[in-house]
Amino acid sequence: MNNIETESPKIYIETYGCQMNVNDTEVIFAIMAKEGYGRTENMDEASVILANTCSVRDNAEQRIWGRIEQFKSVKKKNENVIIGIVGCMAERLKDKLLDCRSVDLVAGPDSYRRLPKLIREASDGHPQIDTILSREETYDDITPVRIDKNGVSAFISIMRGCNNACSYCVVPYTRGAERSRNPNTILSEASKLFDNGYREVTLLGQNVDSYYWKDPDTADDDINFAQLLEMVAKIDPSLRVRFSTSHPKDISNEVIYSMGMYENICKHIHLPVQSGSDRMLEKMRRRYTREWYLERVAKIRSVMPECGITTDIIAGFCSETEEDHLQTLSLMEKVGFDYAFMFQYSERPGTLAAKMYPDNVPPEVKTRRLNEIIELQGVLSLKSNEKDVGKECKVLVEGTSKRDSSEMCGRASNNKMCVFPREFPDGFISETDVSIPGIVTSGKINVGDYVMVKVTGCTSATLICELL
Ligand code: SAH
Ligand code: SF4
Ligand code: F3S
Repeated sequence: MNNIETESPKIYIETYGCQMNVNDTEVIFAIMAKEGYGRTENMDEASVILANTCSVRDNAEQRIWGRIEQFKSVKKKNENVIIGIVGCMAERLKDKLLDCRSVDLVAGPDSYRRLPKLIREASDGHPQIDTILSREETYDDITPVRIDKNGVSAFISIMRGCNNACSYCVVPYTRGAERSRNPNTILSEASKLFDNGYREVTLLGQNVDSYYWKDPDTADDDINFAQLLEMVAKIDPSLRVRFSTSHPKDISNEVIYSMGMYENICKHIHLPVQSGSDRMLEKMRRRYTREWYLERVAKIRSVMPECGITTDIIAGFCSETEEDHLQTLSLMEKVGFDYAFMFQYSERPGTLAAKMYPDNVPPEVKTRRLNEIIELQGVLSLKSNEKDVGKECKVLVEGTSKRDSSEMCGRASNNKMCVFPREFPDGFISETDVSIPGIVTSGKINVGDYVMVKVTGCTSATLICELL
């Protein structure tokens, strides 16, 4: 065993919240690796323990308070260990987190470059807090240390922050103003990933459609999201490109056409609708109507009939009536979402909604409406999957199926999870076009291969497939 390896200090990070937080954890590992910190998944051998936190709903924060209690018990065993809270909850609660006396440092999402210094000073016994939000920070020169072990798909943050002001949402307060990252650094990160065997990148931002880059120092043209998408897609036809999240008010025809033009830009759009009622959308300050949303969906489907469309829905927002709720159910049916993330409204202190509207839908009504939404989505997901039975699709192999270790799994372009056998039968003669980049048509299948499959059955969560 390598001595240096065993002696280097270790950092342990628990990650909560959205994909951007996952990518931020990867950035933190990269920053700390430069300081000589190795990564560990075992809290007991760590000299630094961080929770990268989420504030989007109250239950997300409650879970973290529970974890802080457990970190305390680690501290009892080893008083030299540094316990830190980073991410959105750090930004929102600031010194309130230090007041609980069990954490040594608090650092917001734009403070990670300063973590090594904060950790050094906290080790000297001085609790540290740094929650300064930035107008520039994009961590663009840092190559994240990938924590997703499949070695095939990776996140690339293309922007940070959010300039929208949805009345229910805490994100603009925890992540600050919107800023886009230099496209050259995005392209070089994606190219390096491809050279290292990655076959899928997901471009991340709270509102990717408002990506905009104009180099202040050169006369180069400005670059919007549609152009960025194409630039990434051109790196290699066997590198898949995904992105998240699109805002229905901003998704442009240009983006839709770019998606249609490149086979390797996956045909999936996560388009959070939040509510089907215009009255609620107005109060939520989403700045689109039900009609506008339906028109965007129609446009997407006219250019890409097979495009997967998924969404986020909030049940029981302030003053939501039964009629508003029924409008949400009817919109869900009209669109026929392939999948949805569904939540009860949770009032976040400091947001516009918390200041302006009482959180007046009784909890039992919120729960009942959420359950109706979940139940309907189950039916819609199953229907959507049943429509795919008999179809052929190209899948990027991601790993072993969770349900059955004798099978592999991977996603189709439309983001649906497919399961299929581990190898082609002996003597199998594939009719698949072998000139498709990266395609495998015989022998054992490996993670990172592309395979053609035919859907033979489904559940509401998975497409069951055979190899072609
Ligand atoms: N930027 C993305 C969403 C980020 S937050 C967008 O605009 O689409 C992810 C999801 O959490 C939101 O789409 C919303 O459905 C949900 N959410 C945000 N704030 C919430 C709150 N206060 N209560 C319940 N759900 C909330
Ligand atoms: Fe929150 Fe709205 Fe920004 Fe999404 S677009 S992060 S919901 S404020
Ligand atoms: Fe949560 Fe922050 Fe993401 S509040 S959803 S971790 S941006």
